[in-house]
Amino acid sequence: MASRSFIKLLAFLPISFAEATCPLTMDNRFPINSTGASVDAGLLPFNSKYDLGEDQTWAQDLQFPSVPRSLFDGSDDKAFEVTISDESIFQGTQTGFRRTELLPQRAPGDASTDPLVNTTTSGVQTFHLSIMRDEIRSLNYSHEYYLSWLESADFSRDQFVVGTGTLFGNGDNVTTTQVAQTLYVRSNNVNADSQKTLWQTPFTTETWHNVGLTLDFTRNTVQVFYSKNSAPLTSQGPAVSNDLSGHGSFHVGLLKKPTGLGLTDITTQGFQESGINEGMIFGGVFEEDSSSGCVSLSSFG
Ligand SMILES: *[C@@H]1O[C@H](CO)[C@@H](O)[C@H](O)[C@H]1NC(C)=O
Ligand SMILES: *[C@@H]1O[C@H](CO)[C@@H](O)[C@H](O)[C@H]1NC(C)=O
Ligand SMILES: *[C@@H]1O[C@H](CO)[C@@H](O)[C@H](O)[C@H]1NC(C)=O
Ligand SMILES: *[C@@H]1O[C@H](CO)[C@@H](O)[C@H](O)[C@H]1NC(C)=O
Repeated sequence: MASRSFIKLLAFLPISFAEATCPLTMDNRFPINSTGASVDAGLLPFNSKYDLGEDQTWAQDLQFPSVPRSLFDGSDDKAFEVTISDESIFQGTQTGFRRTELLPQRAPGDASTDPLVNTTTSGVQTFHLSIMRDEIRSLNYSHEYYLSWLESADFSRDQFVVGTGTLFGNGDNVTTTQVAQTLYVRSNNVNADSQKTLWQTPFTTETWHNVGLTLDFTRNTVQVFYSKNSAPLTSQGPAVSNDLSGHGSFHVGLLKKPTGLGLTDITTQGFQESGINEGMIFGGVFEEDSSSGCVSLSSFG
C-alpha cells in the first residue's frame, strides 16, 4: 500500500501548474480582492455565521497581513489571519474558550441541506493548509490552542486536531515549557485521556508551516505531509490508524482553551487572561480527492 501510493505521488511530483494537480473537493483559498466582509456576506466558501464570538463579524476578526505567499496560494490568492480577543466568546456562553474559526465549505452558501454535504468527509481526501505565527499578535503558549480540526456532525468529538501550546490537563505537567511552542497533529479526542500526538515539529517564527493530512475515511487512517516555506511537502511517515467517523465540519482558526485544574466543563470554566490580541496566519486551504492516490506536494509554480 505504502509503495503503491509512493509511486503515484512520484508520478505527480514534477507537475507545476497554476491549478492543483488533483481533483479539488474544496477550494478555500482567499481571493486577493476579498475581505472579512466578503465572508460576512456569504460570498466565499466558508460558513458566514460560525464560529465566532457573539455579535462579532468576520470583518472585525479577520486580518490580511503582508507576508510571502504560501506554498499552495496562487497569484490571485492571499494569506488571511484569524484573530481572537476578549469578545471571542462563542454564543456568548462559552466563557471558558476564546474562539474564532472559519468553517470551510464546498461553495458559498453550502450547508447541511446539500445532499453532498458529506463529500468532504468521505472516501480519501487530503486537507491542506499553511500556518504562520504572528509575533505582533502572539499566542500565550501556556494555553492549548486548536488551529485546525474536523469536528463531528454531532459535535461529540474532533477526529483530528492541528494545534500548539501547552496541552490542557493536570496543570503544566503534561507539557513542558520547552515543547509548548510545537506544532502538532493529534488524534481523535473522543477520549481526552487517550488522545495522542501523531506528529510534531518546532513551531518556528517567520516560517510557513505547510501541513497536508491524507484522511482515509473508509480505512480510518491519517497520513501527515509537511514542509516549510516553499519546499515541497514530504511524507512524515506511514498512514496511522485514527477513527475519522462522524463526518462534520473542518475548522481553521483559533480555539484557545482555558487553564485550570479539576474543571468539569472547560467550555465555561477555567482561567482566561483579559486584554488579549492574538492571531494566527493561514494560507493555501483546500481539500483534494486522494482516492486515486493523488496528493499535491507542490502544485503551484
Ligand atoms: C473578486 O473579483 C472577481 C473577479 O472579478 C469577482 O467575481 C468577485 O466577485 C470579486 N470578489 C469580491 C469579494 O469582491
Ligand atoms: C498566559 O497564560 C497563563 C496561564 O493561564 C497565565 O498565568 C499568564 O498570566 C498568561 N500570560 C499573559 C501574558 O497573559
Ligand atoms: C506536577 O508534578 C509534580 C511532581 O511530580 C507534583 O508534585 C505536582 O503536584 C504536579 N502538579 C500538578 C498540577 O499536577
Ligand atoms: C451525513 O452525515 C451525517 C452525520 O454522520 C448523517 O446523519 C447524514 O445522514 C449524512 N448525510 C448523507 C446525505 O449521507
